[in-house]
Amino acid sequence: MKSLLLLISSFATLFGVSALSEAKPHAPLVCSVRPKGHGADDTDQVLAAINKCGHSGTTILEAGTFNITKKMTWDLADSHVDLHGVLSFNPDIQFWLNSSNTYRVVFIQSQASWFVVTGKNFTIDAHNTGGINGNGQPWWSFFATRTRADGDGRPISFTIWRATTALIKNFRITSPPFWCNTVAESRGVVYDGMYCNATNTDPQFAGQNVVPNTDGINTYRSSDVSLLNWDVTCGDDCLAIKGNSTELTIRNITCHGGNGIAFGSLGQYANMSDNVLNVDMQDVRMMRIDSKVQPNMNNGVYFKSWTGTVNGSPPTGGGGGPGFVNNITVKNVLLDRVNAPIHLYQTNGGHSADAPSQLTFGDLKFANWSGTSLTNKIVDIECSPAVGCSGILFEDFNIDGLSGQTPRFICKNVQDLTGLDAPCNATSLI
Ligand SMILES: *[C@@H]1O[C@H](CO)[C@@H](O)[C@H](O)[C@H]1NC(C)=O
Ligand SMILES: *[C@@H]1O[C@H](CO)[C@@H](O)[C@H](O)[C@H]1NC(C)=O
Ligand SMILES: *[C@@H]1O[C@H](CO)[C@@H](O)[C@H](O)[C@H]1NC(C)=O
Ligand SMILES: *[C@@H]1O[C@H](CO)[C@@H](O)[C@H](O)[C@H]1NC(C)=O
Ligand SMILES: *[C@@H]1O[C@H](CO)[C@@H](O)[C@H](O)[C@H]1NC(C)=O
Ligand SMILES: *[C@@H]1O[C@H](CO)[C@@H](O)[C@H](O)[C@H]1NC(C)=O
Ligand SMILES: *[C@@H]1O[C@H](CO)[C@@H](O)[C@H](O)[C@H]1NC(C)=O
Ligand SMILES: *[C@@H]1O[C@H](CO)[C@@H](O)[C@H](O)[C@H]1NC(C)=O
Ligand SMILES: *[C@@H]1O[C@H](CO)[C@@H](O)[C@H](O)[C@H]1NC(C)=O
Ligand SMILES: *[C@@H]1O[C@H](CO)[C@@H](O)[C@H](O)[C@H]1NC(C)=O
Repeated sequence: MKSLLLLISSFATLFGVSALSEAKPHAPLVCSVRPKGHGADDTDQVLAAINKCGHSGTTILEAGTFNITKKMTWDLADSHVDLHGVLSFNPDIQFWLNSSNTYRVVFIQSQASWFVVTGKNFTIDAHNTGGINGNGQPWWSFFATRTRADGDGRPISFTIWRATTALIKNFRITSPPFWCNTVAESRGVVYDGMYCNATNTDPQFAGQNVVPNTDGINTYRSSDVSLLNWDVTCGDDCLAIKGNSTELTIRNITCHGGNGIAFGSLGQYANMSDNVLNVDMQDVRMMRIDSKVQPNMNNGVYFKSWTGTVNGSPPTGGGGGPGFVNNITVKNVLLDRVNAPIHLYQTNGGHSADAPSQLTFGDLKFANWSGTSLTNKIVDIECSPAVGCSGILFEDFNIDGLSGQTPRFICKNVQDLTGLDAPCNATSLI
């Protein structure tokens, strides 16, 4: 024991001394840039600052509007970025739709990115003034009369890819043409204070959802991600938790309009398993807004997998993928007139004759839910007859449906469900 302690202490001394002898004083590395203005292009000066100070330095992007006209990657290590200003992506739709002008680092559905941040141990603080302007209105108007498809090249506004230990703080994304955020193939990323707003202002489209696919975030192949203090106004998923998202901490999320919070879609790739594990979500509000601005407020929280049959291929088709969703808690939820408070289905992209999905959902806990649903279908959990669901737990679940109508609770192929104060209409096929 004594010799072991001696050994440890001599190692400590050794490291202490070597660290001291290697430490040499040097001036802190700081780069500061301000927008050029007058219609000039800021992309090159922003990239030059990041390339110079993005490793072991500080980069300051001053207040104002930076005109970004080309795809950008920021590779950051042991670095701090103060983004006081707004990165405004030039709305040249045909330019960005040319696949050589975006990155395709997000594997799922081959989605495009115009701005990728990668690296380790960095902070991007946008001080509640800075962030991204996606200039989405011309995009939404352009695509209002055209087919939209996954992987068609509409760019994700802000992509974190292959990052470890990162903090994104007080960051605003306005008018995203497509998804606001994606975190992919990353670990230890904290987003704290995120704003995303996709709101059509063209009176021609009042009352229509012309902002589909403006998801707040998609998480994919990432672990240990925190989503804290989000405010999302969109026409699609407020949050979408996709394959191989594990150890997620989600707190204080307000969603205005859209499809609600999604787990999925999952099982699109037959050759890969989509596993979602250990998600702790608390303090969520789903708020319907003026229907002239955004007509949809579809779900509270919903879960979706493709069927067990392969129909076409990704990015638009697919199915048949295995996987599991397990140990999910969704707690302290307030709903304001959503269509479907809780919905689970395993028939995404499928046909009635398809084989049932093999992807399993289990240990889902819904605690302390209140508020209102526009329909009387309060719970609709329809699990695959091939595998079923197990361990569905409700606690303090009080959602009011349409007045005068008996609430309906549907659960198909659910092995054990507890805590609802009315029986669930279970038709177990397994
Ligand atoms: C941004 O730069 C591009 C290319 O130089 C230019 O065409 C465009 O007008 C600029 N945008 C703004 C808002 O200044
Ligand atoms: C992380 O980066 C900061 C500078 O932003 C640096 O002070 C710190 O030592 C780095 N941590 C590690 C573990 O390298
Ligand atoms: C796409 O961009 C590349 C590189 O700038 C260019 O060579 C190509 O002609 C463009 N394609 C189209 C269809 O515009
Ligand atoms: C979103 O943007 C619209 C249009 O600019 C604005 O009217 C609305 O107040 C914004 N929503 C939030 C929650 O900031
Ligand atoms: C919740 O997040 C919003 C920003 O979306 C923030 O203004 C508010 O202070 C947060 N609430 C708490 C209790 O932290
Ligand atoms: C799975 O299939 C997709 C095509 O749908 C392919 O791009 C991918 O590389 C395959 N993944 C593996 C692990 O084989
Ligand atoms: C998810 O992780 C499992 C291994 O844990 C792997 O087999 C599978 O291919 C991954 N799926 C995706 C979509 O990357
Ligand atoms: C379930 O997930 C929570 C975090 O959300 C974690 O603390 C807990 O240990 C997990 N339970 C199991 C059985 O893994
Ligand atoms: C239940 O959720 C509401 C928000 O919807 C919150 O105000 C309340 O404090 C929660 N109750 C408990 C016991 O956590
Ligand atoms: C349960 O299902 C049966 C058969 O589909 C239906 O007749 C009945 O109305 C349902 N009850 C509730 C409470 O939804």
